[in-house]
Formats: sequence, C-alpha cells, structure tokens
Amino acid sequence: MRRPLIAGNWKMNGDRQEAEALLKAIAGAEPGKADLVVCPPFTALAQAQDLLRDTVAQWGAQNVYPEPAGAYTGEISPQMLQSLGCRWCICGHSERRQLFGETDELINRKVKAVLDAGLTPILCVGESAEERQNGQTASIVQREVEAGLSGVSAEEAARLVIAYEPIWAIGAGQAATAAEAEEVCSWIRECMFRCFGTEVSGQVRILYGGSVNGRNVSDFLKEPDIDGALIGGASLRAEEFISMYNRAKA
Ligand code: 13P
Repeated sequence: MRRPLIAGNWKMNGDRQEAEALLKAIAGAEPGKADLVVCPPFTALAQAQDLLRDTVAQWGAQNVYPEPAGAYTGEISPQMLQSLGCRWCICGHSERRQLFGETDELINRKVKAVLDAGLTPILCVGESAEERQNGQTASIVQREVEAGLSGVSAEEAARLVIAYEPIWAIGAGQAATAAEAEEVCSWIRECMFRCFGTEVSGQVRILYGGSVNGRNVSDFLKEPDIDGALIGGASLRAEEFISMYNRAKA
C-alpha cells in the first residue's frame, strides 16, 4: 500500500513575512495516513526548519546543484539542503527545463546527487501541448523517466517520487482530467516495471501536478496509479493546501 503524498511547490513566491504566515499555518496540520511536504524558495528553508520542526510537515527544495561544494557561484548543494533539515528536493521541473535549459543529463546528475545525500528526489516529467497533439506524450515521458533515473539502483528507485506534470496544465487553471492523468501515470509505472521490476513499480509513488486544487484533488487521488499531487498555486493558500492533505489522509 503506497502512502499518499501531498507536496507544495511555492515556486518563486513568499517573502519572509508571507513564508512565516504560510509555514505557521501548515505547522497546524494534523497527522494521518499521508505525507505532507512543502518546497519553499531557498530563502525560506531556514524558516521552514524552525517553524515545521516536530510537526507532520516535511520540507524540501525546488532545485539543487549536483556537487557537494565548490566554485559554483549562486548554487546550492544537496549537503547544504540536508543541513537545513530538508528531506526532499524537486528535480527537473518543466520550468527549469524550459526557462533554464536543464537537460535530462543534468537532471539525472541532480537526482543521483540528491539520493547520495540521503534526500528524496521528486523527479518531474511531462509533455507540452504540442507534444501531446503530436502523439508524443508516452515517448517524452518515458525518455524523461529513463534518462532521469539512469544509474539509479532499484533500492533508490523504490523510495523516490515521480511527478507527472503536463506542461499545458501547469498554472493553466484547467487541470488534466483524472483519466488523462491516470493514463500517463500508469505508463510511468509500466516504465518503472521495465526498468526496475515488480517490487519497485509497486512501491514508487507517482504524483499528478498541474492546476490541482481543493475542488479536483479527490478526483486524482481516486485513481489507482496516482499517489498524490504536486501543487503550485493552491499550495500558497494554507487552508486549501491543508484541506487537500486532509483529503489524502481519508
Ligand atoms: P500549479 O498547481 O500552479 O498548476 O503548478 C503545478 C506545478 O508546477 C507544481 O510543481
């Protein structure tokens, strides 16, 4: 039985005061049979460590550089994240791929560096509107999963998380339908089966992301291959975010 996971990606939102208010509200979430993760910007991670300590909520980063330390101006290592109590790190978000030119090869290095530091990667994959129209969804997602996880052991693969985030549904206000999301998440699970075998494909958690909110989250959670959600905009609204976590526990 896979434990549901509700994860929030704040993206580049939340100054010090906004982060404090949001983290204090999230700290009030009640424990249950689901995991709750928030990924604030780097600048709010120390606040997360302070305000979420001894709560059900865990925290992570939205990005990382795959070296432990050194002359990489402006970058943050997995070891630095770990020292702030981070247990999670988003890798390969489509905004990083599109706006910052991240390649599958770089994302793969990030996934491995995050695993080596003992953190859990959330590997994001997903097709653009054009790729979907051209019937390329399955091949794009398969390539991103296989390349992103190249060289990862079965034991590591079982404990990481994959988020299917179709680019056309992100920030669009219009999510994929639950059936569309389930179809691709089931392909991802099949891909994990081919790469790592039955045990891993049965254990790995696969999330859907893209315009998830308090009204539609339950539709996704009902699907057999969707184990939770990666939430952008709605994760900035504390009450709605916690209500989605409460749905996942039920
Ligand atoms: P929205 O929930 O705002 O569509 O963002 C999804 C996302 O990109 C999460 O990583």
